[in-house]
Amino acid sequence: MHTTDRALNIDPRIEDPDKLKPLSRRGFIGRLVGGVAGATAFLSMSPKTYGAPAEEMFDMAGGAPADDETYWERVADQFLIRKGVSYMNTGTRGVSPRSVHQAQIEAVERVNSDPNMTWSTYFFPAMNEIREKMAAFVGANIDEIAFTNSTTDGMGLGFMGIELKRGDEILTTNYDYGWVKNMMKYRAKRDGLALKMVDISEPRFRTLENSQEVVNAVEAGITPKTRFLTICHINYTDGFVMPVKEICDLARAKGIITLIDGAQPPGMMKLDLHELGCDMYAAAGHKYMLAAQHTGFLYVREDAADRVQPLVYTGSPDSDMSGAGKLEQRGSSSYSDRIAMGAALDFHNHLTREAVEARLRYLTQRLIKGLKAVEGVTVYASDNPRNSCALVSFSIRDKKPSDIVGSMWYGPNWNGPNTYLRTVSASGDFSAVRASLHVMVTAKQVDALIDMVGFMAKG
Ligand SMILES: Cc1ncc(COP(=O)(O)O)c(C=O)c1O
Repeated sequence: MHTTDRALNIDPRIEDPDKLKPLSRRGFIGRLVGGVAGATAFLSMSPKTYGAPAEEMFDMAGGAPADDETYWERVADQFLIRKGVSYMNTGTRGVSPRSVHQAQIEAVERVNSDPNMTWSTYFFPAMNEIREKMAAFVGANIDEIAFTNSTTDGMGLGFMGIELKRGDEILTTNYDYGWVKNMMKYRAKRDGLALKMVDISEPRFRTLENSQEVVNAVEAGITPKTRFLTICHINYTDGFVMPVKEICDLARAKGIITLIDGAQPPGMMKLDLHELGCDMYAAAGHKYMLAAQHTGFLYVREDAADRVQPLVYTGSPDSDMSGAGKLEQRGSSSYSDRIAMGAALDFHNHLTREAVEARLRYLTQRLIKGLKAVEGVTVYASDNPRNSCALVSFSIRDKKPSDIVGSMWYGPNWNGPNTYLRTVSASGDFSAVRASLHVMVTAKQVDALIDMVGFMAKG
């Protein structure tokens, strides 16, 4: 109960530290489940939850077989996407399910209704809990996770923060992300570094059954002067899952620090960053994680942390500066966005990472198979599940990718859904259309896309 003295409207729970712990989630639970039974179900599902999966998802814990359409259509119904729209561009921008959306709104309300309490009291315990969940989700230790604002932000913190000297070589591929390549070009010019880009644009790299060819190509680019190496975990162009472990192992053996651009995988594929063997891994919250826009994380392996220095540092000068946390000390941050990250983790954990990945692989194989059966269509995704996951790029004979994307959206001769895809292009004249599949996409929508491609391929 709040005091009736309006001039001193202090929440009395402030005086009792134990009561403060659950405070940040209490309002949400109360409104959402509205009853002891619901609250019990919610709490048993996850005792440290900042954004519970919505009430109608309580019986959906643990996932379901990948082809259980009834279950997965219910999951798809958790998204706010307009009726009649097939959203297949999570690889660029993810959208949040209702529980995450709701948790974020609740957090904004908390900030605006009680800012002092939010920043002084709720923020740090919440961040610690969310960090713990994030670390468990990606197979890292808590001290190895720094929250960031995007993949690019994490790539910047990792790459710009390592010590390199004139003449050192830095290595990437020509299929890496444009912003990352620009960052590397900028620093190379500024600091007199030699930037080398391994060419993986040849068609033989597109639908590889054996990824050793890529490992060999990257290895051939390494010289005794190479100090830093970055590759994408999944190439955003053709959806190829790079042999990250093999490449990181060989870099490690040569003392080269590795930073992986993991824009897409978290939330798409089960990750174990320790097992993957990279020194750093930057990822987004606003793609397959389905968290708020402007969120992400950077993993810095424990034994690599002292090689990365913050560019902006507002933490205590007496800190021992070990761990990734030092990279996060950059002044104010967004409480509500990070709460949404916690809620997104709860959403994924509720369905389970395994069930989500299996569902995405099922939809992907359905799409690949359907598209391959259409005459005139080329699919740039490997049938080998080690080399592909949930991004499927394709082209239709002589049709321009931008025309395909436009037709799928506006569908002038088509009564199916407005399907949102995107164009992708890269070196070596690679130009295609990309579909990103996630749990808001149903098997019916995948089939409708195949029909629509078939329709266009005839024209
Ligand atoms: C491989 C890759 N890296 C980086 C980015 C940029 O991601 P962010 O928006 O999280 O900075 C993208 C965006 O699509 C991407 O696909």
